[in-house]
Amino acid sequence: SKQDKLEELKKAVKSYPDFPKPGIIFWDLFSILSNPSASTLLKEILIDTAKTICPPVEVVVGLDARGFLLGPLISLELNIPFVPIRKKGKLPGKVQSYKYELEYGEATVEIQEESIKAGQIVLVVDDLLATGGTLGAACELVKKLGGTVSKCLVVMELPALNGRKKIPADVISLMEF
Ligand code: PRP
Ligand code: MG
Repeated sequence: SKQDKLEELKKAVKSYPDFPKPGIIFWDLFSILSNPSASTLLKEILIDTAKTICPPVEVVVGLDARGFLLGPLISLELNIPFVPIRKKGKLPGKVQSYKYELEYGEATVEIQEESIKAGQIVLVVDDLLATGGTLGAACELVKKLGGTVSKCLVVMELPALNGRKKIPADVISLMEF
């Protein structure tokens, strides 16, 4: 069952206390990807989850950098486009930008203007929901292009940080820590 798969998957996740800064715990997506059977479980769960979204997803948006490892697993299976949101200055052509607050300072993310058509149904994918700044910014960029964020899908969520409150869309998280 999906519950059994998720429990199995959770066992594969490694965490690193005090990385990248003292007091922060780093939840490592790569500890799943380095384990082939856990990776297969993750892939199956992501695809199953995406396929059940109604109305059907038309575009998968993945976030720089770890979201790039997840989005194409879904978009290839659904035979729909994968679109990247990147940190500032990495995407060619016309882009839309969105600046958001970090714990210390700010960050800017970008999307290519032609990547989503007005009215398209979008699934936004990333590895982790922490404070919600990154995923929230991604939703704003999709909105700027006229797309509709149907769901945000993350592998891991840190509910104590209340990131969900910043996301103007439904969030599906596979695991909480
Ligand atoms: C990490 C993680 C999420 C984001 C979550 O990305 O991959 O994208 O932080 O944090 P938030 O909810 O507080 O915004 P990060 O930009 O650190 O690095 P990456 O390029 O390796 O994905
Ligand atoms: Mg990231």
